[in-house]
Amino acid sequence: MVFDSRTAEIGISCESCHGPAEEHVARYRNPLTRYRNHFTDDSETGIRNPEKMDHRLSSQVCGQCHSARINFEPQLMTQGTTYRPGKGLHESFGILLPGRPDSLPGLRRNIEEDPEFYQGTFWPDGIIRVTGREFNSLLVTPCFERGEMSCLSCHSSHDSDPNDQLAEGMRTNQACIQCHDSFSDKLTQHTRHSAGSSGSLCYNCHMPHTTYGLLGAIRNHYIDSPNVKKTLETGRPNACNSCHLDKTLAWTNNQLKEWYGTAPADLNESQKSTAASILNLLSGDANQRVLTAWAMGWKPAREVSGEDWIPHYLVEAMKDNYSTIRYIAHKSLINIPGYENTDFDFVAAESVRTAIIGRIPLSPTLLDSQRVPDQQRVLLFDSVGRLMRDEVRIHINRRDTKPISLME
Ligand code: HEC
Ligand code: HEC
Ligand code: HEC
Ligand code: HEC
Ligand code: HEC
Ligand code: HEC
Repeated sequence: MVFDSRTAEIGISCESCHGPAEEHVARYRNPLTRYRNHFTDDSETGIRNPEKMDHRLSSQVCGQCHSARINFEPQLMTQGTTYRPGKGLHESFGILLPGRPDSLPGLRRNIEEDPEFYQGTFWPDGIIRVTGREFNSLLVTPCFERGEMSCLSCHSSHDSDPNDQLAEGMRTNQACIQCHDSFSDKLTQHTRHSAGSSGSLCYNCHMPHTTYGLLGAIRNHYIDSPNVKKTLETGRPNACNSCHLDKTLAWTNNQLKEWYGTAPADLNESQKSTAASILNLLSGDANQRVLTAWAMGWKPAREVSGEDWIPHYLVEAMKDNYSTIRYIAHKSLINIPGYENTDFDFVAAESVRTAIIGRIPLSPTLLDSQRVPDQQRVLLFDSVGRLMRDEVRIHINRRDTKPISLME
């Protein structure tokens, strides 16, 4: 095979964020020009700095890759996109925003030909459900729409932690308080949790882990407030129940009404009586199951929900049809004290997996726990602390088994 590529740089390179540098390089070959440049602005050479663009253009630099998008440019496969940093991204790409299919030429046809077009990428209300597509979330976030938020409000490309590219200080409430400054004085009044609590971190209530990718759950970049009605409409777990794994939706309904005056949602019997995480893990669709299996290993959630009951459910998730869910459930299990050394091959033959799972020790009762019988019932443990296996089975039989492929 003969390659005849005219590509100068491949992948995530300087030019993908800074634009073409040919002119810049030619000009600064001369050391005198380089010296003189200390006194001039070099934007005339075409090179761009995302930090000096307005918040929309700057976020589009990241959005050229971090978005669910369609490119209708005819030369895409031969010469690449016409997009260049600093230019309007929307001239080259259609960014998918469900609910607004008319915003893109050709999109309505795609949806008509394939009604499930959006399903693997978006929750039913059009909020992204896979990682790596943060720009779509940003576009519908009020802080961006009505404010100046950009990716660089929290991330930095060169001066940050290489793992998640968060700029210094942006792991804390500073990320939000930089604009919402009134919240530093009324923090606990707003969050109703003590100041140092994981329940007082803005991210944990407004950017919960409701996107899937890279074999885990990742924070959604749609800034939203916890709301039970929305959870029921979309299936997207709310922030309160993603940390308080041992609580029902009815509990969240009551708390949100009491604290924030939020109108409560109508619930069915299971939603009133059984922890939301358990319903999601046993009866939910593959997306709900994978997020819940991950949450059961998340330290803040384990700390506030008690961990003694969690292995009984992770062991169920290790029997899931989806290998990814089995993998994540096992990773969560080994976070729990006493289970650190549990070996499990999530892609072994089913008979092998079943045998290994059968040997994982589970405490026969939760009697030594601090919970009153009502709280045990919420977790499907009876008054003497035994797992109510028939109830568990009923919920598993109600599982939403529709196939889902999450397009990360
Ligand atoms: C993923 C996008 C991205 C890539 C790739 C990237 N940069 Fe940057 N660069 C930025 C952003 C955003 C800034 C603004 C400061 C920050 O976020 O760190 C910046 C700032 C700079 C600055 C500082 C400019 C100034 O005026 O202070 C220089 C110099 C620079 N980049 C050079 C490079 C070089 C050289 C490469 C390739 C090795 C590169 N960048 C690759 C996004 C990127
Ligand atoms: C040319 C495409 C491209 C551009 C432009 C780009 N990214 Fe990325 N970015 C990627 C890819 C691909 C990955 C995933 C790499 C991996 O799997 O580790 C990534 C990973 C990341 C990560 C996660 C890092 C990790 O280790 O998991 C962050 C955060 C991120 N990008 C932020 C940004 C920001 C902010 C900008 C704009 C300043 C930006 N990116 C611009 C392609 C891009
Ligand atoms: C760059 C500035 C900026 C940053 C950073 C920022 N916001 Fe905002 N945010 C705004 C603006 C501006 C609005 C719109 C306010 C309005 O219209 O009154 C807004 C709106 C909101 C709203 C919706 C209010 C409503 O009316 O529905 C919430 C919730 C919110 N922000 C939470 C957060 C959280 C949590 C963070 C941190 C994760 C954050 N914001 C970071 C600027 C910002
Ligand atoms: C209000 C702050 C904020 C803004 C604005 C923001 N992010 Fe993030 N981002 C975060 C936080 C917090 C995380 C989670 C980091 C972690 O858990 O390690 C994150 C995680 C990510 C990750 C996944 C990293 C990983 O592998 O876990 C990517 C990719 C990313 N952001 C890209 C972007 C892009 C692109 C934009 C703009 C479209 C953006 N972010 C805007 C705060 C922000
Ligand atoms: C324990 C969960 C929780 C935490 C933590 C939290 N919030 Fe909120 N926030 C909510 C809820 C719930 C609402 C919705 C209230 C409503 O419906 O009016 C809300 C609403 C908001 C609003 C819009 C309404 C208003 O009061 O202006 C903003 C802005 C906001 N939060 C910012 C923040 C910031 C900034 C932080 C961190 C300092 C933060 N929140 C931490 C739960 C939380
Ligand atoms: C990331 C974890 C986290 C999130 C998200 C969170 N909490 Fe909490 N919550 C805690 C922790 C930790 C405590 C223990 C007390 C403290 O730290 O203030 C707590 C305590 C409570 C309590 C009192 C103790 C109890 O169990 O009755 C209530 C009520 C409560 N949270 C409700 C909520 C509601 C409602 C939301 C959503 C708006 C929420 N929490 C979101 C971690 C969280």
